[in-house]
Amino acid sequence: MDTLIPHRLGYVALDVADLDEAAAWWTTYAMLEVSERTDDAIYLRGGTDHHWIVLHHTDGTPGLRKLAFEVGERADLERYRDRLAGEGIEVTDHDGAWTGKAIRFRDPNGYLVELFADMGNMGITPTTPWINPADLLHAVVAVSDLEKSFDFYGRVLGLLESDRVMERTIFLRAGNQYHHSLVLGAGRGEPPLLDHIALHFRDIDDLMRVRQNFIERGEPFARDLLRHPTSGSMGFYAKAVPSPSTVEFCIDHGKITDPDHRPRAMARARWASNVWLPPVNTHA
Ligand SMILES: [Fe+2]
Repeated sequence: MDTLIPHRLGYVALDVADLDEAAAWWTTYAMLEVSERTDDAIYLRGGTDHHWIVLHHTDGTPGLRKLAFEVGERADLERYRDRLAGEGIEVTDHDGAWTGKAIRFRDPNGYLVELFADMGNMGITPTTPWINPADLLHAVVAVSDLEKSFDFYGRVLGLLESDRVMERTIFLRAGNQYHHSLVLGAGRGEPPLLDHIALHFRDIDDLMRVRQNFIERGEPFARDLLRHPTSGSMGFYAKAVPSPSTVEFCIDHGKITDPDHRPRAMARARWASNVWLPPVNTHA
C-alpha cells in the first residue's frame, strides 16, 4: 500500500480503580459483553472482535492507558516503524495474545499509541446484553498543542482531516472512512484526558433502548439528545467509568467517501456541536 493510513480505531485500554465496578458499568450501560477476564484486566466486546475496550486495574490514577489502531495489512507495521524511526520516535515491539504483533510509541502529548494488524475474531456476536453497539467509532482526547498533535496524527500516522472547529478541535478519519476515528481537542483540559469514546448503534430503536436503560435505572445523561453538524450523528452522552470520561451513544455517523473532500473549518459557534440549539440573542 502506497498510502499509509490506520484502518480504524481498534480498541481503547483504560486504567480503573475497581475492575468489577467498571465492568458492571460497561456491561450494564454500554451494552458490551465480557470476552475474557484475567487477574488484572477485563476485555469487553460489542461485535465479533475479541475486544473494543480493555479495563486494567491500577492503584494509580484512573484514565486512558492506550489508544490502539488496526492497520490495513501486516506489512504496514514495518512501514510505520520506518516512518516513526525517521521522526526520531522510539518504537517498542509487542506481541499481543489477541492482537498479534504490534508496535507501540508515545504521541506528542504522552499518550501511548499501539498499531496492530490482527484482532482476534470470536466467531459469533455477543449473546449478552440484549442489544450491542455496531461499532467502536472514535476516541476524543485532550491535547496541549493542537497543531503539533495534528502534525503527528496527520502527517506521520496518516489520518485524514475531515473537519475542524477553529482553534479547538480537529476531526480525523481512518481508512474505514467514518467521519472521525480520532478527535484532537484543545481547551478541554490538560492531557492526559480522555474526553469520550463513541459507540455506534444500528438504528434509532437501539439508541432509544440504550437511552431508556439509563432513564429506568435513574442514571443521568451528561448531554441528552443532540445532532452534530460534522458527522451528522445523533446521540447522547453519559459519564463513564472511569470519570470524567464519557461515552457517546450515537447513530447515523457519516462516512467520507469523496476523495476530493475538503475539510470545513467550523466557527466556534454554539452550533458547532449541536444543530438543534435555538438561536440566542437574535432579538435582543
Ligand atoms: Fe464524539
